[in-house]
Amino acid sequence: MSAGDDGMEPVQAGFIGAGNFIGAHHLLTARDSPLLAIAAIADLDESLLARHANRMPVGYTTTDYRRVLDDPSVELVIIGTKQDLHARLIVESLDAGKWVFCEKPMAETQAETEAVLAAEARNRGRLAVGFNRRFAPAYAQCKRLMQTVPRPWYVNYRLMYPNPTQPDGTDFYSQHERILYEGCHILDLVSWLLEAAPRRVFMTGDRRRNNCCLLDYADGSQVSFMCGSMGSYCLWKEYMEVFGTWVGITISDFTDMRVRGFEGEFDRVYPPHLGEHADSILTHGFDFYEAYKVERMYEAREAYRSRYGMAIEHVRRPTPPGFEISQYGPEHPDLWGFIPDKGWVQSLEHFADSLRRQTAPENADGAAGALSTRLALALLRSLDTGQAVTLEAEG
Ligand SMILES: NC(=O)c1ccc[n+]([C@@H]2O[C@H](COP(=O)([O-])OP(=O)(O)OC[C@H]3O[C@@H](n4cnc5c(N)ncnc54)[C@H](O)[C@@H]3O)[C@@H](O)[C@H]2O)c1
Repeated sequence: MSAGDDGMEPVQAGFIGAGNFIGAHHLLTARDSPLLAIAAIADLDESLLARHANRMPVGYTTTDYRRVLDDPSVELVIIGTKQDLHARLIVESLDAGKWVFCEKPMAETQAETEAVLAAEARNRGRLAVGFNRRFAPAYAQCKRLMQTVPRPWYVNYRLMYPNPTQPDGTDFYSQHERILYEGCHILDLVSWLLEAAPRRVFMTGDRRRNNCCLLDYADGSQVSFMCGSMGSYCLWKEYMEVFGTWVGITISDFTDMRVRGFEGEFDRVYPPHLGEHADSILTHGFDFYEAYKVERMYEAREAYRSRYGMAIEHVRRPTPPGFEISQYGPEHPDLWGFIPDKGWVQSLEHFADSLRRQTAPENADGAAGALSTRLALALLRSLDTGQAVTLEAEG
């Protein structure tokens, strides 16, 4: 066990579920952060456990997650199974006396939500839901700026990205409602940004993949949210616009932030997750980010064409950029693809730091997890009925 930068012992983390997402993100954060140590990893897949243990220091691995919960040296449990186990594992982990960081969504149903909230009430201040976008540097700055101007605010959010299909032709969102399993991120984000729950919600589209949502707030604020599976991998995935009286902010894929109407404020460009080519992005701006992101895909263009029938072409702009994108290649050994900074590292490190200092974490808690699920379920009711759904005032 080694001490962190300021002499604090790293938090002993036990992982339950360590598949694609956890292996690409939270395990690497725990491996690299002075705030965290990987005490244990539990997963049903023994070959996966062996791969993780070979590439990072791990106390032990196990196929029985109860061993992690029974281990008194484990302080923090990180839950990264698929969503069907989230609520049950949160309850068991909290009641085992652990701090708990669980991936989204916190719960799939109202009954699961209530079970989690009851467990959180027995174990106050120890639950975080993995709504990492609250910690994305661009979004944190957006919130700081918006808090200086009066409401109402108008938010327009676009989350649009095709889903990779499995060899059998299915994809996750052919079987799961995207608004609940991915849209939950944005339903939490706007609730955090506006610090309010909407009074009415309305959704059109289909049940699984493509939706347009409207959220209407008591102070006159409004959110429009497009959550869908169309488009091209070549176009960046997320875009947010926020408007107040005489002010506006746009953020393209967490990277390019344009700020208008705030005295003394200026546009910003944020480096990507794991920092690959950060200097070039800061020098050349979003054009470089986008061109490089697509260039990484271009290397596999034949696979995209044969698997999806999707064309991957270089980004070509009306005027030549000040860089030759073909001269840039992969640098970071852990970076699969090329992704912006959505706040994953910061959200986990902040929670570990709060545990060690015994301070109240700013992560999404059970109430926030409950609100996000509740909004997604209300939007699905709206879709079923064709009517706006009115939500009771939050207690
Ligand atoms: N925050 C984000 O940006 C983000 C992005 C992608 C996925 N996620 C979340 O991450 C989670 C995992 O998604 P994924 O795509 O990596 O899934 P995955 O299927 O690749 O990984 C899940 C792992 O859980 C393991 N598991 C299942 N039951 C278990 C049990 N009883 N005990 C121990 N391990 C068990 C499986 O063996 C598997 O390795 C999901 O909740 C998803 O919503 C979050």
